[in-house]
Amino acid sequence: MEISLQQAAQLLQDGEVVGIPTETVYGLAASVEREDGIRKIFALKGRPSNNPLIVHISCLEQLKDVIVGELDNDTLALARYFWPGPLTLILPVHPAVSKFVTAGLTTVGVRIPDHPLTRELLDLTGPLVAPSANLSGSPSATSRSHVEADFGKDLPVLEGGFCQNGLESTILSRSKEGWQVGRLGAIPIDVISVVLGYEPLSCVHGSRPICPGAFYKHYAPQARLYLSSMTPYEKKMGPIVGFSNRNYPSEASFISMGSLEDPLEIARHLYATLRKLDEEQHSSAWIDVDFNATGLLATVHERLMRAASSVFHTEINQLINLI
Ligand code: TXA
Ligand code: MG
Repeated sequence: MEISLQQAAQLLQDGEVVGIPTETVYGLAASVEREDGIRKIFALKGRPSNNPLIVHISCLEQLKDVIVGELDNDTLALARYFWPGPLTLILPVHPAVSKFVTAGLTTVGVRIPDHPLTRELLDLTGPLVAPSANLSGSPSATSRSHVEADFGKDLPVLEGGFCQNGLESTILSRSKEGWQVGRLGAIPIDVISVVLGYEPLSCVHGSRPICPGAFYKHYAPQARLYLSSMTPYEKKMGPIVGFSNRNYPSEASFISMGSLEDPLEIARHLYATLRKLDEEQHSSAWIDVDFNATGLLATVHERLMRAASSVFHTEINQLINLI
C-alpha cells in the first residue's frame, strides 16, 4: 500500500514496519528506538533472531547514537568517499542500541543510503533498521510490487521507483589485518581497494563468515535452478536464464538478465529475473553462470550460486572459490 513520507514517518515512530526504497534493494524498516517494530520485522520476514540488522542513517551526525568511539582516518575515508551509497561498515555498537538489532554482537552494521526519499525520511525519524524487504531466503525486492508480492498489499510502502543498483550494499568489517569483506555487494572490491590503498581480505578468509546472514539460504526462488557450470542444458530443465549478447539452443525459452557488456543492467535485473521464474510458475530453470566473475559480476555470480544452492555457507564458498 503506497503511503506518503509523513505517513511513513508517523508509522515508524509508532513502532510499525514500513517498506522503504534504497539505491540497492527495498528495505523493511523500523525505528532503531522501537523494539516492538524491530520484533515485527523478524516475524514478518521469518528471519532467524541471530541474524543482525543494518542501521540506516541520513548523515554522519546520526552516527553518534549508533556507534561508540570516534571514526579513525581509514573509516572516515571510506565513509566520506562512499556515503551516501551502498557500503555498510561494521563498527563498535553504542550500548543504547537494542540487542535485537545486533543479535547480541558487540558491533553494528551502518550505512547512509543514497535515495532522496529515504534520506528525507531518516531526517524525520532518526536511524532506521532495515533488512532487505523479502521473505527470508527469497530473492530481494527491487520494486514496490516485489515487496507487496512477499508481504501483501496492506504493508505500507514508500514508493521510490526501481532500485538503481539492484544488489545489496557491500559490507566491510575491521580485522587485525585491516578491512575485510563481509559480503560482496554493489560496490566492486577493486573500487574499494583503490580508496583503501590495499585490497581488503576476502570474505572466504577463515572458517567462520563475518556476516551471520551467510549461514542461511538466500536469494532463492521456488524454482529449482540448474547451473551451466554443473550440467549441460536439457529442454526438461525449463527456460534458460542468460545474457542477451549470447546464443543459446533455439528450442529453449529464454529469459534475459541483460548484456554481459553492461554489468549494471544485469545487476538491476537480477532479482526481478529470479522472481519472474516464480511469477511464471516455472518449476525449474537453467542458469548461465559461465562468465568472467570480476568487478560487479563477481557479486552477480555469488548471488546466483547462492540462489541455486540450499547448502550452507562453507560449501557455497568452496564452490565459488573453485570457479
Ligand atoms: O543494501 C543493503 O544492505 C540492504 C538495504 C535495505 O540497505 N539491506 C540488507 O540487509 O541487505 P539484510 O538484512 O538483508 O542483510 C544484512 C547482512 C546480513 O547478512 C547480516 O548478517 C549482516 O548484514 N550484518 C548485519 N549486522 C552485522 C554485524 N554487526 N556484524 C556482521 N554482519 C552483520
Ligand atoms: Mg537480505
